[in-house]
Amino acid sequence: MLSQASPWYVHALKRTTAGAAEPLTVPARMEWTTRPGSGPGAEILGPDLCRKRVLELGCGPGHNAAHLATRYGAQATGVDLVGLQVRRARSHYGRLNTLTFVAGHALHYLQASDDHFDAIYSVFGAIGLVAPELLLPAIAQHLKPRCTLAFSVPHPQRGGRRPSTDDRPGRDYVSLPDCTRLPIARWDFDAHCWDKHLDRAGLWLTSAQEFHDARHDRWPTTLLITARKL
Ligand SMILES: C[S@@+](CC[C@H](N)C(=O)[O-])C[C@H]1O[C@@H](n2cnc3c(N)ncnc32)[C@H](O)[C@@H]1O
Repeated sequence: MLSQASPWYVHALKRTTAGAAEPLTVPARMEWTTRPGSGPGAEILGPDLCRKRVLELGCGPGHNAAHLATRYGAQATGVDLVGLQVRRARSHYGRLNTLTFVAGHALHYLQASDDHFDAIYSVFGAIGLVAPELLLPAIAQHLKPRCTLAFSVPHPQRGGRRPSTDDRPGRDYVSLPDCTRLPIARWDFDAHCWDKHLDRAGLWLTSAQEFHDARHDRWPTTLLITARKL
């Protein structure tokens, strides 16, 4: 049965089995990289997030959205493809009244929404997992002018890989707690290629930073991009 399920469903199921779904303390930091405690925090989303509407695409258990809602007073919405992740996020942080979790595909959520956001972000979430030529224009439509899109993705040169040389997705894997891996498609672009796709969508790349994680190897592990709506 599980062999036919979506890799992201299996990922959520295994994570749910590995850790209890109970109320959690809200994290003190926003994490963009593979190494907790390193890299920037929520400040890259804008100077003042108090009462601002922020949207996370691919929120998983909701730690970052909970941080923005609690520490910054943002009105945060987290969307995740897998209902089980949303259930888990609600059991961790459902008590926070400026935080909403929604189950759905990031693109379908945006296509069905009339809302406009002060910041949209993804932390190893839907950006890179959904065709950028569809997702980035949909994001641009729902971002207020001069507001920020920020996203981190696995670095295209992680472990010595080569970034993709065209606009098509490549094969990647979801790692499960038991160290097995399930194949997924990923748009593994370098900063230059993200710049091209952002520009086509009406978004202006404002920074591209790479981060290493000394626990792994000498290759960068995370690419963090920020962009602004023109
Ligand atoms: C690697 S996890 C990251 C979760 C979270 N952002 C974090 O940092 O803990 C990727 C998440 O993206 C979700 N996801 C994958 N494809 C998606 C899509 N098309 N729309 C919304 N969420 C998606 C998965 O279900 C999973 O929870």
